[in-house]
Amino acid sequence: MFNFVSSDPLKRARQELNKATSVAVLTGAGISAESGIPTFRDALTGHWARFNPEDLASPDAYARDPEMVWQWYAERYKDVLKAKPNAGHQGLVEIERRKMHAKHKFFLATQNVDGLHTRAGSGRHGGDYVELHGNLKFARDEQTEEVYPLPQPEDLKVPPFSPAGHRMRPHIVWFGEMLPANGFQRAKHAFREAKVALVIGTSSLVQPAASLIQETLYTGGTVIEINPEETHLSDHAAFSFRMTAAKGVQALL
Ligand code: OAD
Repeated sequence: MFNFVSSDPLKRARQELNKATSVAVLTGAGISAESGIPTFRDALTGHWARFNPEDLASPDAYARDPEMVWQWYAERYKDVLKAKPNAGHQGLVEIERRKMHAKHKFFLATQNVDGLHTRAGSGRHGGDYVELHGNLKFARDEQTEEVYPLPQPEDLKVPPFSPAGHRMRPHIVWFGEMLPANGFQRAKHAFREAKVALVIGTSSLVQPAASLIQETLYTGGTVIEINPEETHLSDHAAFSFRMTAAKGVQALL
């Protein structure tokens, strides 16, 4: 069949995505921006502007002042519960549904800890899904490492204690901590295998999450970036759309 290569990059990207028998997606804080959750590095609203995360989201900060660190997370936990998934999250669920229906592969790795992908339905169509940096809605027993869901914000006393009576910490990967090994290995494999990798709403600055895209580039997969700003990855991507996540993902459907 004559393989018409459209001059329109969006059309070409859509064709690549439709053709791909394995798709991997990496999302960052930008996909939740349109749900009202501030990103990390956006000058105006970013958390950096209001807090110095290294002083809060780190093992030393927690050892120094667990109450303050928990206050910050309880604050973000409240914000997150009020937020709703947007068209970007929903568009990724539709892509997952189509790929799984076609018996193809779909993998979503997020750096976000807001749980909005789950709320939108990611993973419900059989695609694989990993929260690389943990999830704000859970806490972890500091001795047994058991993970428990947090109660509703109004019932949350900080720091929370596990049923075993041990203090619990936020179930979040802090600066300088290792990512959940199993999840990261699965993600690495998925990005190596991916024919198309979507990179949405991330400055691709934080390792090792950002290195997942190198896996796809290395094996010759097509990288499609969606971000209103240029990133250092933009020049290496086959396509880089200066669009918000909500618009960009919907435009790929
Ligand atoms: P950043 O704040 O570093 O990057 C957010 C990206 O989203 C930027 O490139 C923005 O241009 C882009 N962006 C902003 N609005 C957008 C929109 N409406 N649609 C699409 N993109 C938009 O956040 P991350 O890259 O996610 O780690 O940061 C990665 C990690 O750094 C976070 O997971 C966190 C932080 O340290 C931990 O907490 C361990």
